[in-house]
Amino acid sequence: MCSPVSPCRSGTGWQWITTPDSANRASMLSRTDTRARGLADLPPVENDSLLALIALCDADPRPEKIDVGVGVFRDAVGNTPILKVMKEAEQRLVDMQVTKAYLGSAGDKRFAELLRPILLGNHADDESILGLQTPGGCGALRLGFELIATANPQARVLVGTPTWPNHPPIIRSVRLDMVEYPYYERGQGAIRFEDMVAALEAGEPGDVALLHGCCHNPTGADLSEDQWREVVRVVTARGLFPLIDIAYQGFGRGLDEDAFGVRLMLDACEEVIVAQSCDKNFSVYRDRVGSLWIKTGSAEASKKAMAHVHQRAREMWSMPPDHGAAAVHIILEDPDLHERWLVELAAMRDRINSVRQRIAAADPRLAFIGRQFGMFSMLPLTREQVLKLREDDAIYMADSGRFNVVGLGDDQIDRFIAAVVGALDA
Ligand code: LMR
Repeated sequence: MCSPVSPCRSGTGWQWITTPDSANRASMLSRTDTRARGLADLPPVENDSLLALIALCDADPRPEKIDVGVGVFRDAVGNTPILKVMKEAEQRLVDMQVTKAYLGSAGDKRFAELLRPILLGNHADDESILGLQTPGGCGALRLGFELIATANPQARVLVGTPTWPNHPPIIRSVRLDMVEYPYYERGQGAIRFEDMVAALEAGEPGDVALLHGCCHNPTGADLSEDQWREVVRVVTARGLFPLIDIAYQGFGRGLDEDAFGVRLMLDACEEVIVAQSCDKNFSVYRDRVGSLWIKTGSAEASKKAMAHVHQRAREMWSMPPDHGAAAVHIILEDPDLHERWLVELAAMRDRINSVRQRIAAADPRLAFIGRQFGMFSMLPLTREQVLKLREDDAIYMADSGRFNVVGLGDDQIDRFIAAVVGALDA
């Protein structure tokens, strides 16, 4: 028997056969094709908007350019420094590491253990919650959606828009259907909470509620504690499957405060998936450090689900890259480094919040920015206005009007505000 997409002897020659199940995966092949197509026949791919923006900004020779595009933290003078504790941990790693032998698909198990209390809080001792290291939050998301697609391919993913531009492609990559609902009212700078609740109420049991744990990307508009309570109520009442993406823990109100929604969901739901990232709160972006957490109704069921996760990880990247997670492990294991990481993290959070307040105070139309959290907010600008800011003022933000608050060095803030206010006045 032919596998879903495989060359089979049929009639006079080899023919690519596709079954309905594999139709999406093999969209470039059709039943009538008489030979395999070459790579040159691949359809064009739409550029990833954020990565394209990095390239555009890099190519702009104007020295005064302002990069508030991609989400990396910058300090007052516009640098993305390596944390001091990270430098020390990396040095220790170089000095003390005696082997680079394989660790297996779970990566560094101690890294995940050390993250448990930070992410899970009072759930840290719950044996039905298992975690493993992943290549960044993106790897964790992909793995989490792979697991859901394996368990329940009929599940639809309920996605509040706008959302992080990489969420939809990751969901499509596991061939789950997506149902979008409006999450944010740009003009008001506020969450469309009634719409969100209505959309979740309309979900079918087993549908996935994709939620941002904190520091919503791209809007900065986080659920309040009361709103989290209501979301948890609807998720449990409708039998939805919560998948929480938490990539900025510690950048909003504090490590524990930012995990409020995750922990509340764990209180209430038998099954939960959490995709976590250390890329931002340890400032190790390119090293790709994240983790995936699954909770089921029992330790046995979680072990069984985790075996699927390991299998998927093995198929995709075999084992996660070690360096960044090994350095995070060293920081979290050492009380002095751990304490100093908290201080450096607080300094990043304070800078984010002080830049927010400075922008918010400049114009009543920007006041909403002071009520939001994390690196991003979304300006009520049209795409044309965003492109004009790029052209005239060398200000690079996403076409959606999303900008990275701490993309701004201190000496760029006034010029940025003046240009944005000018655009709003026009
Ligand atoms: C962002 O949203 O800018 C970051 O999370 C970087 C990325 O991978 O998109």
